[in-house]
Amino acid sequence: MLQKSIGVHVIVPLTAIFIVIVIGSFYLSSISNTDTETTAATATFAELIDGPIQPIPFAVTLDQRRVTLGRDLFTDPRLSGSGTISCSTCHDLVNGGIDGLPVSVGIDERTGFVNAPTVYNSAYNFRQFWDGRAESLEDQIDGPVNNDFEMGSDWDTVIATLSQHAPYLEAFGTIYPDGITVDNIKDAIATFQRSLVTPNSRFDQYLRGDESAITEAERRGYALFHSYGCISCHQGINVGGNLFQRFGIMRDYFADRGHITPADLGRYNVTGREEDRHVFKVPGLRNIALTAPYFHDASAATLEDAVQTMGFYQLGLSLDDEDVALLVAFLETLTGEHPELSVQFEG
Ligand code: HEC
Ligand code: HEC
Repeated sequence: MLQKSIGVHVIVPLTAIFIVIVIGSFYLSSISNTDTETTAATATFAELIDGPIQPIPFAVTLDQRRVTLGRDLFTDPRLSGSGTISCSTCHDLVNGGIDGLPVSVGIDERTGFVNAPTVYNSAYNFRQFWDGRAESLEDQIDGPVNNDFEMGSDWDTVIATLSQHAPYLEAFGTIYPDGITVDNIKDAIATFQRSLVTPNSRFDQYLRGDESAITEAERRGYALFHSYGCISCHQGINVGGNLFQRFGIMRDYFADRGHITPADLGRYNVTGREEDRHVFKVPGLRNIALTAPYFHDASAATLEDAVQTMGFYQLGLSLDDEDVALLVAFLETLTGEHPELSVQFEG
């Protein structure tokens, strides 16, 4: 398993570094010789929408029976050793797909080590987890089920428990010829998660050509996101989720914060390579206004804090309050739509 993936581990970071250098140098050169206010004011609509961020497709084609079964499993505490914790305990779908806690609380009130990312749009991440240790949504599921700090179970127990429940025997039997198996459980849950996409954010309406979908302040925030170079890391459909990068590129975040934990080592824990120390998957920023606190260590309580920290440690900038407010205004336009999130859209 490890040997098979070595090629990928080498190629992906190299590709990532290459992309960042190419895009980054493009944006950095535009910063060095221009006043950013001017860039923000003069970038044309065509330039802004032709960037490296793409709108989320309106529809994904999925087998509805698997989506429904996957939803039942996702919200079912039978998957945990204690029968008390489901995926949705930590990934609350009406609450941005997170638990809102600095670190998650799993079986027997045990606390984990990192902040829970959202499950919305996780289908668009090139890897799963902060350190990217799972290659796919299917692989990711082994993590929580077997983790002593999350669901504290094992697959034999899960299969035995689900097999005692007639509705599951029937649902699995109808969809999958071989019934309740580890692969089929993973397939159903992963398929459900692929349905958790949030199209039609105001920003996507803008990208699709509706100039009035965002306000002038939000547009200026997006122009800063471009000109400062945030977009060299946060890009693609998920406005992130397609690169690995060090946290602390321009300044040493971890030295300043102190008390380094194993979780802070990031991708180093996966590859054991010195250059991967403190390297993380760049998180997607879709629905970011709904998912405080921020960063793997939950060190930023608000979006303003997170933006300030990113400017300082990733770009070497001390952003003033106005820039932070504009960037936050832009980030707030990334909130999309999904029936499960609908509570958020009332009122
Ligand atoms: C006890 C809380 C808890 C439970 C229960 C839990 N998760 Fe998570 N989930 C987390 C945390 C914390 C992380 C981040 C772990 C890391 O990156 O090391 C995470 C990460 C993820 C990710 C990766 C997202 C990304 O952007 O990298 C997905 C997908 C996910 N969980 C889905 C699930 C599914 C499916 C289940 C049920 C089988 C589940 N989780 C159960 C807390 C939980
Ligand atoms: C060199 C790459 C890079 C650049 C440039 C960058 N980021 Fe990030 N960003 C990251 C990484 C990596 C993380 C995850 C850090 C962690 O928690 O370990 C992150 C995390 C974030 C988060 C928190 C996401 C979450 O779910 O907790 C926000 C918000 C954010 N960035 C916004 C910005 C903004 C705004 C800018 C520009 C001012 C920016 N980033 C520039 C790489 C980058």
